[in-house]
Amino acid sequence: MNLQKSRDLLARDQTVLSSGQHLLYYPLAVDRVDGEIVTDLDGNRYLDFMASASSLNLGGADVHVMEAVRAQLEKCLQYCTCYTTNQPMVEYAERLASIYPGKIPVKVLFAHSGSDACDTAVRLIRTCTGRKRFISFLHSCHGSSYAGASLSACFDGGSEQVSLMLPDIRYFRCYYEDEGLPADYHYLREIEEAFRTDFPPEEVAAVFVEPIQGDGGLRPASHAFLRQLYALCKKHGILFISDEVQQGFFRSGRWFGIEEYGIIPDGILLGKSLGGGLPLGAFLARPEVMDVLPFSICAHTISGFHLACAAGIAQFDFMCQPEFQTALRENCTGMEQCVKTLVSRKRQGILLKAYGTGMSYGIHVLRGGTGDPATAAKIACRSFEKGLLLLVVSGNVLRLQPPLTIRPESLREGFRRLEEAIDEVLAGYEPDPLLLSQPAWQGQSDNV
Ligand SMILES: Cc1ncc(COP(=O)(O)O)c(C=O)c1O
Repeated sequence: MNLQKSRDLLARDQTVLSSGQHLLYYPLAVDRVDGEIVTDLDGNRYLDFMASASSLNLGGADVHVMEAVRAQLEKCLQYCTCYTTNQPMVEYAERLASIYPGKIPVKVLFAHSGSDACDTAVRLIRTCTGRKRFISFLHSCHGSSYAGASLSACFDGGSEQVSLMLPDIRYFRCYYEDEGLPADYHYLREIEEAFRTDFPPEEVAAVFVEPIQGDGGLRPASHAFLRQLYALCKKHGILFISDEVQQGFFRSGRWFGIEEYGIIPDGILLGKSLGGGLPLGAFLARPEVMDVLPFSICAHTISGFHLACAAGIAQFDFMCQPEFQTALRENCTGMEQCVKTLVSRKRQGILLKAYGTGMSYGIHVLRGGTGDPATAAKIACRSFEKGLLLLVVSGNVLRLQPPLTIRPESLREGFRRLEEAIDEVLAGYEPDPLLLSQPAWQGQSDNV
């Protein structure tokens, strides 16, 4: 595999870009993206099981999005949304409000990413509730901005540089559906204990939760746990915020992951695919939360800008079409079958366990009952050599999130390459050491 141009560019990248810019898994310099095919600078073609980290849910160059972008480009790229309004922004906000779970009346505040939507939410919620403390969960990810990183507990065990920048956040254990605990299990013991001692509920403003933790390993939360948590929030006037940045927009098979739980959250965070591939984030909540601060505190110069909203609308409208819904259902079924086949095969040395739903699965690579990050890294690198792109999260979890509209034959071909990569690694194949020397494979902790 020739990676010369990609490697040359990476050398320049490392000279000029901060190490905080990205976490490289592969020497991959992306040049083109068409549907589920990513082409690098050297002309290598990869099947995409990453979907740009779930920010291109329709894959690259989707015709609906591209047409809308071209039409919008003719008129206006952006014009400061902090001092003016625009049609795509208003129309997109109307559409988003119309699909809010339970059809409750909500308003929208646009941001540029999931992370700054999270920061905005924290500011609005603190002001609205007059409370300053927050509950989050171990292994959760809410972003890389000040509040987003502080609410996250999936990075490096909570060092001061990475998280814990905001005080007054307490992380609790998340319970998962696969743990098989009974519905009447007392899930909230730890939280109630904290409420009784040093974390009084009347000081807690909100709970932030991913119904399906993404970077934490794609394990859906327990239904009974989330329902008990929701009831506890209602009892104490604590807002329940569902982070849908990664699993929203049909990644989980529905508009929002929380719909599976029959819960109407008090707020929703959106990002990643919201802008049809362009930078856009949003916080949605009831008017009493959204109208609590004067404009200038939350406004960004161009968040909700014309182009991103036009692209987002095109994606949204296509997602409402039967054509998309049919393709999605077929792909969700295909994905489930491929995952089942993959993990059902007996293998020497390792055990693969699958978690997830819809078009979002995590394959946990286990050896002797615990995570095996070294083997997961080799499988990912061998997959890359075979022209399949996937991410590894939590050290040992292969994150499989292809575009929702991937062609069924590409889906099957991706799983075929993954199977082969696994077999070859287990048979002793060692991927190119230069691949394994990429920063992502150094120091990833196995925190699941
Ligand atoms: C669940 C979740 N929330 C928030 C974020 C932050 O989004 P962004 O990186 O677009 O700021 C992420 C990013 O991976 C995420 O997975």
